[in-house]
Amino acid sequence: MSSKILVTGGLGFIGSHTVVALQEQGHEVVIIDNLSNSSIDVLAGITKITEKTPAFENIDLRNKNQVKDFFEKHPDIEGVIHFAASKAVGESVENPLLYYENNLASLIYLLQELQLKENAYFIFSSSCTVYGQADSLPITENAPVKKAESPYGNTKQVGEEIIIDTARINENFKAISLRYFNPIGAHPSAEIGELPIGTPQNLIPFITQTAIGKREELSVFGDDYPTPDGTCIRDYIHVMDLAKAHVVALERLQQNKEESNFEVFNLGTGKGSSVLEVIKSFERSTGEKLPYKIVDRREGDVVAAYADTQKANDVLGWKTEKNLDEALKSAWDWQKEVVKREEVEN
Ligand SMILES: NC(=O)c1ccc[n+]([C@@H]2O[C@H](COP(=O)([O-])OP(=O)(O)OC[C@H]3O[C@@H](n4cnc5c(N)ncnc54)[C@H](O)[C@@H]3O)[C@@H](O)[C@H]2O)c1
Repeated sequence: MSSKILVTGGLGFIGSHTVVALQEQGHEVVIIDNLSNSSIDVLAGITKITEKTPAFENIDLRNKNQVKDFFEKHPDIEGVIHFAASKAVGESVENPLLYYENNLASLIYLLQELQLKENAYFIFSSSCTVYGQADSLPITENAPVKKAESPYGNTKQVGEEIIIDTARINENFKAISLRYFNPIGAHPSAEIGELPIGTPQNLIPFITQTAIGKREELSVFGDDYPTPDGTCIRDYIHVMDLAKAHVVALERLQQNKEESNFEVFNLGTGKGSSVLEVIKSFERSTGEKLPYKIVDRREGDVVAAYADTQKANDVLGWKTEKNLDEALKSAWDWQKEVVKREEVEN
């Protein structure tokens, strides 16, 4: 089933891989991105992989009039996959209003336009951060949403509430919120991947930048947690698997398969890996040695989080196909490509 889909933040890490997956399924994609955390070069990467250049509009979604004009220009947009957001937890603590404006005003302006349509399909990028430190593991979609630990986390919780309220008064508006666990890896071609600006906030870019010599040593925050090896446990999901889930979710709405006009799915592998296991997996899959040291715990880190994937498996009919070794190998290949490109530029 081919249709015209708006992907906001489509030049970002998860968005770009999803654009590839959508185009490979025959969908026509229009990207909106303001390049605040991405590069226009990503468009060339997508084109190289799919042999098709998606339409691209450099729009800041905080500009309500531009969002309105966009939908007037593209009345045939059938669905929206909304990735565009600011995502640095620490920065959100320092600058909460930036995060509330960017992550919530943008969402509201999009929904205001979608409300006017006869049928509208909306996929929202949410996060396992809404569960905080869950009371039991693995985490199901029924686990309670805990008080957010940062303005960023709060934008995901409030974002979901805004979507629920919109769906409640408009049954032609159908939405799915996808709660990601820890997306990692890159397209196997190494044409697109994660492009952290400044010091990476996440473990995997920190690992690859350390292994390539951009950083001296990896800091492992705490080895005295109540886990088998004392380090924190997360559910690392390959971005290629994650991207495919968005296509499945969108097609579920297009094919009227939903059970209600707002649904939630956890997207993870169901398997938790500790920081030390990730380091071992990286060394095994790449043959690189990773210098690391154990330092104090970092404030705000939950001990362990991994998904119960049964609902996504049974109801969405989606499951992950790639393992941690493959994800880390692809992240490493991408890191080497990034350095190669930087050398050409300088
Ligand atoms: N990466 C993760 O670990 C993770 C985990 C859970 C949820 N998420 C969510 O998934 C989504 C995508 O994450 P990502 O890792 O691909 O992030 P990313 O920063 O790589 O991509 C986001 C894209 O949105 C664009 N953007 C931001 N604000 C915009 C605006 N006002 N107008 C237009 N474009 C704008 C950025 O330029 C960027 O290209 C985000 O909503 C994020 O909160 C990410």
